[in-house]
Amino acid sequence: MRAVVFHDIADIRLDEVADPMLQETTDAIVRLTASAICGTDLHMIRGTFPGMTKGTILGHEGVGIVEEIGAEVRNLRPGDRVVIGSTIACGACSYCRAGYFSQCDKANPNGPSAGTAFFGGPATTGPFNGLQAEKARIPFANVTCVKLPSEVTDDQAILLSDIFPTGYFGAHLAEITPGDIVVVFGCGPVGQFAIASAKLMGAGRVLAVDCLDDRLQMARRQGAEVVNYEREDAVATIKELTGGIGANRAIDAVGVDANHPHAGPAAKQAASHEKQFQAERDAIAPKRNPSDGNWHAGDAPSQVLQWAVASLAKAGTLSIIGVYPETAMSFPIGMAMNKNLTIKMGNCNHRKYLPHLVELVRTGAVEPTEILTKVEPMHAVLDAYKAFDQRQPGWLKVELLPGGLSSQAQQRHAAVPAYGGVKPGAATSIG
Ligand SMILES: NC(=O)c1ccc[n+]([C@@H]2O[C@H](COP(=O)([O-])OP(=O)(O)OC[C@H]3O[C@@H](n4cnc5c(N)ncnc54)[C@H](O)[C@@H]3O)[C@@H](O)[C@H]2O)c1
Ligand SMILES: [Zn+2]
Ligand SMILES: [Zn+2]
Repeated sequence: MRAVVFHDIADIRLDEVADPMLQETTDAIVRLTASAICGTDLHMIRGTFPGMTKGTILGHEGVGIVEEIGAEVRNLRPGDRVVIGSTIACGACSYCRAGYFSQCDKANPNGPSAGTAFFGGPATTGPFNGLQAEKARIPFANVTCVKLPSEVTDDQAILLSDIFPTGYFGAHLAEITPGDIVVVFGCGPVGQFAIASAKLMGAGRVLAVDCLDDRLQMARRQGAEVVNYEREDAVATIKELTGGIGANRAIDAVGVDANHPHAGPAAKQAASHEKQFQAERDAIAPKRNPSDGNWHAGDAPSQVLQWAVASLAKAGTLSIIGVYPETAMSFPIGMAMNKNLTIKMGNCNHRKYLPHLVELVRTGAVEPTEILTKVEPMHAVLDAYKAFDQRQPGWLKVELLPGGLSSQAQQRHAAVPAYGGVKPGAATSIG
């Protein structure tokens, strides 16, 4: 079968690999009908989320049809259509029972303290082969797969695999209460779902920070008040928009590849921190290999953490869902401590939220496909990766079609220009 394989930092390829096989009685084999590229994949290819094993299949977002099941998978049948949660969880240990599926004691073969187990990640996360492939082995399939109702399309379901649950998790961690002012840093796919989820949880106002106009436009269409950090000083503007008090809740939806401003009123101040940012980046990602405009690590790993803490009101809450590797050590602890902030963070417990979010999409309460701007056949995956890595206009979220262009998929691919950001005439918006 064909799959996207990690060969080295800045070197991924579409390879012919062996089909996956059942290994445990709790496994299923799923034939993928949809996959996607995520900002997390970029960290691994840029070298800022290090420790990948060569030969690992990338990708942790998937929708497909169950092909085979092990003897202990009692809730699925071959032929079932499922969405696969990005993180792998046993469903039986005390952490899973408490809803901390991403801290499962059993799923990670490196042991209970090794961290979150997920598809297509570094050695410490399993490693498990990922979902940018024609087929995949799904461990603990009774928990990791969630059956899809026929009303939920592949285009909708692929956004449920990781990024909608993650945005929702981020809003949940932020402890949003009705009326709160919430600021979301990063308007990539995860940030867009954090905005939508903040609205679902009753935020009074949502402010959204990025430097890319198409992404800020999407945030504005969702009703967020946008701040372009390369035209304005982000922290000063947030303070100004909140009566000098600051936001009640902040969500970091950027992670380790954060950039500092290169233009605008905040650029000068950022330049004075250049040495510190460089030292952070060198410690986090000693091995990098950018080339031809691709795979550049962010130039200011702690920029968003600093801005988020600075722009929060006293006693506010910071929710960190942007990914940082274990080697990231910089956090403005003093400023946070002296404001009595609450800080919550982590890898999404996908399985905790999936059934509820599938239902929100099925009922039409949320239409997630507004942020799906590209649907690409598998043979175009490397170009799609490069465009998404460069954050080219219009490349907000990329769905991949691992099964080739079936007639249904062909229609979706052909419909791409119609997406162009937001589907015109969509009945309900993302939030
Ligand atoms: N916690 C989890 O379980 C989980 C799950 C999925 C993704 N993630 C993480 O969420 C993050 C976002 O993912 P994505 O797919 O949206 O990525 P993305 O790379 O597409 O988006 C990141 C956005 O941040 C913006 N940005 C960069 N520096 C900034 C700054 N200083 N201030 C404000 N915005 C800035 C970029 O312009 C970009 O639009 C990544 O770190 C990803 O790994 C976490
Ligand atoms: Zn993802
Ligand atoms: Zn468990």
